[in-house]
Amino acid sequence: MNYPYQIKSIEEYQEHYKQSIEQPEKFWAEIANHFVWKKKWENVLSWDFKTPSVKWFEGGKLNITENCLDRHLAKNADVPAILWESNNPKEDNLSLTYQELYDKVNQFANVLKNNGVQKGDRVCIYMGMIPELAIATLACARIGAIHSVIFGGFSAQAIADRLEDAQSEFIITCDGAFRGPKDIPLKNVVDDALIRNQTVKKVIVYLRTHTPVSMLKGRDVWWSDEMDKVVEQGQQYCEPEAMDAEDILFILYTSGSTGKPKGVVHTTAGYMVWTNYTFVNVFQYQPGQVHFCTADIGWITGHSYIVYGPLSAGATTLMFEGIPTWPDAGRFWEIVQKYKVDILYTAPTAIRSLMGFGLDTINDKDLSSLKVLGSVGEPINEEAWHWYNKHIGKENCPVVDTWWQTETGGIMISNLANVTPGIPSYATLPLPGVQPCLVDDSGNEIQGNDVSGNLCIKFPWPGMIRTTYGDHERCRQTYFSVYDNKYFTGDGCYRDETGNYRITGRVDDVLNVSGHRIGTAEVENAINMHTGVIESAVVGYPHDIKGQGIYAYVIFDNTHGDAELTKKDIIQTVSRVIGPIAKPDKIQFVPGLPKTRSGKIMRRILRKIAEGDTSNLGDTSTLLDPSLVDVIKEGAF
Ligand code: WTA
Repeated sequence: MNYPYQIKSIEEYQEHYKQSIEQPEKFWAEIANHFVWKKKWENVLSWDFKTPSVKWFEGGKLNITENCLDRHLAKNADVPAILWESNNPKEDNLSLTYQELYDKVNQFANVLKNNGVQKGDRVCIYMGMIPELAIATLACARIGAIHSVIFGGFSAQAIADRLEDAQSEFIITCDGAFRGPKDIPLKNVVDDALIRNQTVKKVIVYLRTHTPVSMLKGRDVWWSDEMDKVVEQGQQYCEPEAMDAEDILFILYTSGSTGKPKGVVHTTAGYMVWTNYTFVNVFQYQPGQVHFCTADIGWITGHSYIVYGPLSAGATTLMFEGIPTWPDAGRFWEIVQKYKVDILYTAPTAIRSLMGFGLDTINDKDLSSLKVLGSVGEPINEEAWHWYNKHIGKENCPVVDTWWQTETGGIMISNLANVTPGIPSYATLPLPGVQPCLVDDSGNEIQGNDVSGNLCIKFPWPGMIRTTYGDHERCRQTYFSVYDNKYFTGDGCYRDETGNYRITGRVDDVLNVSGHRIGTAEVENAINMHTGVIESAVVGYPHDIKGQGIYAYVIFDNTHGDAELTKKDIIQTVSRVIGPIAKPDKIQFVPGLPKTRSGKIMRRILRKIAEGDTSNLGDTSTLLDPSLVDVIKEGAF
């Protein structure tokens, strides 16, 4: 496949950027023309950020899997679509060509149909990082069902909440998932999630770990049995459903500043164009290259840069089941060597954790295939940036620092590999179509350079969030009402003298722990569920490896007397309610929380104490009980 819209020089970038601002409809129509449509669109863009309502390629009909699979068969049927590396380096790895992936997706799409899944139904997917996870998502898209992938690290309660919110009737899962030395019993977790559930009709289970599971008659079926039936009955082909451009492709839950995760909704055509365009341009993908994105498909990075972006571009995408530090800290480098990886896309937290293991597991590997390195998920500190550049890229590979969000669908601000220059710790410049602006707290746009503010986007781009599932008003309030007529990102940002952007981190109550988004209110709700907890307040603090750690201040009715055991109980509770990713790193028992007279917790003070910076706590005179601050300070870690 060739990509006529791949930008080749700085001048071209500037030219394309200009066109995308001056004539956005013409610009995106030309790019969209390179995709397969069942029916051409009537209107490229209509929008109103007030409601909000954003429609791209309205009137168009398509199926994203025809763009990810069918269209590659004529010339690239034998090109590997998915390369898969098992958790266990000794176990056979696997390669699926475009033809093989196409066959499996078609068959599994028929399995879904045979099990009653129809267009528009929500299908929850809770699996480990195996090719069947990608197959399941694509099979949903083929028949027009809406997938909602839930990261394998979420708890039964978190699944139950998401099932309920999306009113899902179907689940696709595995008996278990291998992650490093662990074997996680996914089906058991699903069973716990289903205890009080009334809506789920079918659970399709893929056998991976051979862990004992209970299979309920009438509800639970095995993936392989169902696939065998399809093959026996000759149902090899599944007609791709004709989807409207704005039909929902998937829901992905993410944390915000309130307690309840939101179901971010992405639609078909705009998301497809955006993930493809950004993939091809940021990484400068060339046919034949191997793209290795280390994210999990349970997060947006996996959706966009393991599945839809690469496959729509006919690329070879590498999926890895395991973790970077098992059996040893050289695992990523071993994979790079084994598959001759060209593009490596990972998170700063992984880089920082691997930095700690020294160079022995790197220097004995051949990393000469690498051409482009990418970073995503959180600000990359300069030390990690330089280490990545020097020891992995051998100062020979551009590092693309890609800023984006679940809500943006794909990369928004980033340098383009070998095209526009990178600057350590800067995401640098917006992609064509992206119109960032900085606003002050009263919503005034801050003009000029060498300025900081709240990062907003003032014009629609094809891959943007359309709504929050089942609650459009929440979408409006969260993203479009904070600042008038703008999409608010929740991030703080600095624009330097030369117009380059540097993301400084969240300005709301969202934490970024090891690149995972976690709402402080969510963690507080979970802690408060523990018997004996009266109230809690959660803040982030700088953590060497995770980027941010979770610090919880807890008022506890200490009836059992054993503080350490109680802390463990609280951690266990959070793990049960949300999942192990949200466990507090530090818990401090406090007699009270610093509140204003109107009852608002002064988080600023708690944040400073958690950061260990108590020299200047600012004005504490408005507190109901200022003496409390000293008590909290004394007990701090
Ligand atoms: C942060 C992940 C700095 C940011 C794709 C954003 C980043 C949140 C970067 C979204 C980056 C992501 N530099 N910060 N390159 N990339 N972030 O929804 O705070 O899991 O708002 O999407 O991660 O996290 P999410």
